[in-house]
Amino acid sequence: MWPDKRLMDMLGITCPIIQAPMAGADSPQLAAAVSAQGGLGSLGCALRSADQIAAAVRDVRNVTDQPFNLNFFCHQPPPHDVGQDGRWLARLAPYYDELGVALPSELSAGRDAFDAELCDLVCELAPAVVSFHFGLPPAPLVARVRAAGCRILSSATTPAEAVWLVEHGVDAVIAQGVEAGGHRGVFASSWQHGSGQIGTLALVPQVADAVDVPVIAAGGIADGRGIAASFALGASGVQIGTAFLRCPESAVSPLHRAALDRAQADATVLTNVFTGRPARSIANRMTRELGPIDLDAPSFPRAAAASLPLRLAAEAAGSGDFSSLWAGQAAALARVVPAAELVRWLAEDARMRIARA
Ligand SMILES: Cc1cc2nc3c(=O)[nH]c(=O)nc-3n(C[C@H](O)[C@H](O)[C@H](O)COP(=O)(O)O)c2cc1C
Repeated sequence: MWPDKRLMDMLGITCPIIQAPMAGADSPQLAAAVSAQGGLGSLGCALRSADQIAAAVRDVRNVTDQPFNLNFFCHQPPPHDVGQDGRWLARLAPYYDELGVALPSELSAGRDAFDAELCDLVCELAPAVVSFHFGLPPAPLVARVRAAGCRILSSATTPAEAVWLVEHGVDAVIAQGVEAGGHRGVFASSWQHGSGQIGTLALVPQVADAVDVPVIAAGGIADGRGIAASFALGASGVQIGTAFLRCPESAVSPLHRAALDRAQADATVLTNVFTGRPARSIANRMTRELGPIDLDAPSFPRAAAASLPLRLAAEAAGSGDFSSLWAGQAAALARVVPAAELVRWLAEDARMRIARA
């Protein structure tokens, strides 16, 4: 049995494992398989249009009637700093040249944050759970999501961010350690000079002490040992991303999958050069030659508009030199098995270790 059932009872799930939303890398098949197995499947919606979100939800509901999670970014759109965009494009110009791609004269604003229109869609779709990354949307939108009957989660990278999230209405906090793959959910602390980057082992108990809602541990968890440790640290559940990337149901590109297959424990770096926000990726030419951190990169998401043409051109030539290869530090622990089997194994392995402790 699980030592803490608060999260499972709150979300209506029978296994305290959340498949992390992974914009661009998850799929309805992955989310449905996890939810049907008693965990919580998630769809990262940051790169999906409204129609694509609705279609993905239909696909999940065609497979299972169990709870699932829709996830949105809620970053503040950055000010348009023409000088910074120009300096960054000048840094990238030799790579555009090398790949034979025309250098853009300016950067587009990029992906939108959660807004009233997406809120309408969420209220119509009414998933059991909605999670946010980079803080929370404005209070009236949070209130509407709650009124639609959805449980609300968001990521914290410090105890202070966790307290802020609870004060602003989340039902549970995802404590995201620095080991995690993909973007850091950081929103209230500074990351630019290396501060606020706390590991899962130190973060989870401090968040559990700071808030009275269930805590979900995330970052570097890929087997029953990590899950059992998370419960020992005060978590009521875990959110796992990287380990699910290796399932056949994930939507990672063949290049990304091959990089995951090769990844050793020290393969990843925290970098802002792909999107302008710190995120953990397998190191490649782009992170080595331009970063991993360069404070000249335009703010999220403008930097993504600068790196995307390079990525597309390099990938068309069979190279992942300019691809964001999001992955956490536990990539090498991940098994290549279907998602349902992975959830069963993770749960059994964790329960065995918790019972033995
Ligand atoms: C490929 C990838 C994409 C991600 N995209 C999102 C996202 O869209 N929204 C989000 O809240 N978290 C995202 N994350 C972060 C996860 O929610 C989670 O914090 C992380 O995967 C946990 O660490 P792990 O990868 O070591 O399991 C992403 C992670 C990965 C690996």
